[in-house]
Amino acid sequence: MAGQTLIVGNGAEEQKPNKAGLEGIVAATTALSNVDGQVGRLVYRGYDIHDLAHSTSFEEIAYLLWFGHLPKRSELAGLQASLLEQRQLSTDILTILRNLPAETAPMDTLRTAVSAWGMYANVQGQPTIEQAIALTARFPLILATFHRLRQGLEVLEPRADLSYTANYLYLLTGQEPKAEHIKGLDAYLVMLADHSMNASTFTARIVASTASDLASAVVAAICALKGPLHGGAADKAQEMLAEIGTAENAEPWIRATLSSGRRLMGFGHRAYKTTDPRAEELREMARQADPVGFAFARRVEELAVSILDEIKPGRRLYTNVDFYSAVLLSSVGIPIDLFTPTFAVARIAGWTAHILEQSANNRLIRPLAAYSGPASLAFVPLDQR
Ligand code: ACO
Repeated sequence: MAGQTLIVGNGAEEQKPNKAGLEGIVAATTALSNVDGQVGRLVYRGYDIHDLAHSTSFEEIAYLLWFGHLPKRSELAGLQASLLEQRQLSTDILTILRNLPAETAPMDTLRTAVSAWGMYANVQGQPTIEQAIALTARFPLILATFHRLRQGLEVLEPRADLSYTANYLYLLTGQEPKAEHIKGLDAYLVMLADHSMNASTFTARIVASTASDLASAVVAAICALKGPLHGGAADKAQEMLAEIGTAENAEPWIRATLSSGRRLMGFGHRAYKTTDPRAEELREMARQADPVGFAFARRVEELAVSILDEIKPGRRLYTNVDFYSAVLLSSVGIPIDLFTPTFAVARIAGWTAHILEQSANNRLIRPLAAYSGPASLAFVPLDQR
């Protein structure tokens, strides 16, 4: 896109790039993760996501992001102990959760509870790893507690013998989680833990750059993740699959949707111009977890990619992480309105790592805007207008 003329403070004109949505603009330097959208590669601190997806746990990835290297056994045990120590909700937060209307959207619940936690825990000043651990440990508790309360069920005590992921499943369902569900959900959390300069991470870094506190930066990130163009797409993808209903209905449904100008949820990505590597992993996991649901989703994917290529030639629209997330999260028993909050249960590791990275080497993020309003109108007093 061509540069746009900017009127700068001293009245002089300057040429600046003005890409809608900041597309292609480098907004930060990070050692945490890298997305190569041309070849479909994602790395966390140099490690390929395909290598990490099945061989590491969420706690190992949180360690990698926060401390900069993959943990030794003793280091991992230390982090697990710290997370466990923080696996509790104070009476203040429990009271807030008990008083929320049952129909509150879980992302709103999460945003409210994190904001309240920041206030009650008096989270102020330079963000710390201890704060990151304390908040990460509470994310699954906030969501699972609210989920039980809204069904009129009693809140369960977190279990110290279970991992981060297994404890989340246990608190949601009240049942001993199945090994394959723990494995599937843990791989999901590993793959969604970080993703370079996505909208919610950028939001968190902007807030951190003002020297605000960690809880405030995370609240802002939750607000950005909620939108259906970002993390809110997985439940919309699930709704889309339900609405399509049958393999026979897929092609007419997709064509009708696209010709009415609507978007297919779970397709397209700002960075990836090929399949998202996380979608490739999730596709295989969905195939194993739910063969019937998978077969239908696969048919929809094949048709959607081919019709998008026909109707939007050259846009290179492929499946993104949210499409097969829907199939996988359903198969492990996550309710549809907890899909996006469960994304946050993973991304809290990345958000807090970015907040720490930003505040360790901070400069206020304060870009410019290309002014497109009138240049100099004559002022008219109120009673003469
Ligand atoms: N369905 C139909 N058309 C699409 C889709 C889609 N899912 N995605 C992009 N397009 C089209 C647009 O209509 C546009 O066409 P045009 O050039 O004829 O106007 C073209 O592709 C480019 O679209 P942009 O909106 O400019 O692309 P951008 O990089 O801004 O969009 C986004 C990325 C927002 C993810 C988009 O692909 C989208 O809306 N997808 C659906 C929502 C979704 O799945 N979001 C989850 C993303 S992954 C994540 O954040 C975790």
